[in-house]
Amino acid sequence: MAVTNDQLVEALRPVQDPELHRSIVDLGMLRRAELDHTGTAHILVALTIAGCPLRSEIQNRVRSALTTLDGVTDVELDFTVMTDQEREDLRVKLHGSPGASAGHAQAHGHAEGRAIPFAAPGSKTRPLLIASGKGGVGKSSITTNLAVALAQQGHSVGVVDADIYGHSIPQMLGTDRPPTVIDEMIVPPEQWGVRCISIAYFVPDGEAVIWRGPMLHKALEQFLTDVFWDDPEFLLIDMPPGTGDIALSLSQYLPRGEVYVVTTPQPAAQKVARLSAAMAAKVNLPVKGIIENMSWFTGDDGTRYELFGSGGGQELADEIGVPLLGQLPLVPALREGSDDGRPITAVDPDSEVAKSFRMIAERIAVELKPKKIFSSALKVI
Ligand SMILES: Nc1ncnc2c1ncn2[C@@H]1O[C@H](COP(=O)(O)OP(=O)(O)OP(=O)(O)O)[C@@H](O)[C@H]1O
Ligand SMILES: [Mg+2]
Repeated sequence: MAVTNDQLVEALRPVQDPELHRSIVDLGMLRRAELDHTGTAHILVALTIAGCPLRSEIQNRVRSALTTLDGVTDVELDFTVMTDQEREDLRVKLHGSPGASAGHAQAHGHAEGRAIPFAAPGSKTRPLLIASGKGGVGKSSITTNLAVALAQQGHSVGVVDADIYGHSIPQMLGTDRPPTVIDEMIVPPEQWGVRCISIAYFVPDGEAVIWRGPMLHKALEQFLTDVFWDDPEFLLIDMPPGTGDIALSLSQYLPRGEVYVVTTPQPAAQKVARLSAAMAAKVNLPVKGIIENMSWFTGDDGTRYELFGSGGGQELADEIGVPLLGQLPLVPALREGSDDGRPITAVDPDSEVAKSFRMIAERIAVELKPKKIFSSALKVI
């Protein structure tokens, strides 16, 4: 029996736009689906923007969805591009209209007027702030690998690189393209199942960011509002070292944020403990757990060398009264993976350190899952 055009459309319905993770049919991207008498399917797809970087991926997906259909012998795929009006309609459909969420008349090309979705009581996103009282202890490496580990466990995950002066997430994650902008909605690039946004995409390579407080505030606000995060389960925030303006802004933007403190194992953790606790108190967010990094190095002979001493993570956890979620060994491959944009958790999932990352991810996802005590079914009468 011949395939009808409607059947072509139904076969294409499961095909998702690789960036927006929605059906190309539901997004209105499918413009024509017709089968001719020779069995060739003529398909026209409207891309969101001209020069869409994922055009060939869409092509592959459409082809493989149709070639499984009996009666389709060939696929001829053409592309067109959405009009400005169509892009605006798409943005409103996916991301709402700024005016509707915050009562302002219109957005002025940035975050103004749009509410932060993660601050809403009904938000399903858990913002995880990866912080430390100290620099260079591995916050960014941990943010990256933890995000990958959570994604491997089937969670939807985004990362905000909040280290405006010392951004490193795009490099560590290995995102190879900047965000796409659809009518002022910023669609973040995705790598290893993790979406990310960073100031790195907004400033020319090698140029330093020299903004002061208000600009930092604006950039962070834009990262949280104008970016199409699509309600991820986890939004990891790679914090800059120490305490400062950025931590303060984030605490306002993410009142339901959870702080995870990274430390190294030196027993002299008291000072860091005080700094970390001070930061959490200052921003009024709870510290939920400690992650100890660079805990040991395993030599070729299998001996563990505790290069930076031991016990600091546990001491800090006891001091604050939260669990020590895991200890990560010092492994050169972790650093190399960070430098090359190939996180070790993604490229060597069986390694000891990747397993530790997955264990920490699971503890955060399961053990530390906030308990729901509110029920929308209950009403005070
Ligand atoms: N467990 C580890 N094994 C080997 N190298 C590591 C490990 N953790 C971090 N590193 C390396 O140490 C360096 C500092 O790590 P990272 O940049 O993640 O720290 P950070 O706390 O984010 O630093 P900053 O405070 O500058 O933002 C990087 O080169 C990273 O690759
Ligand atoms: Mg960092």
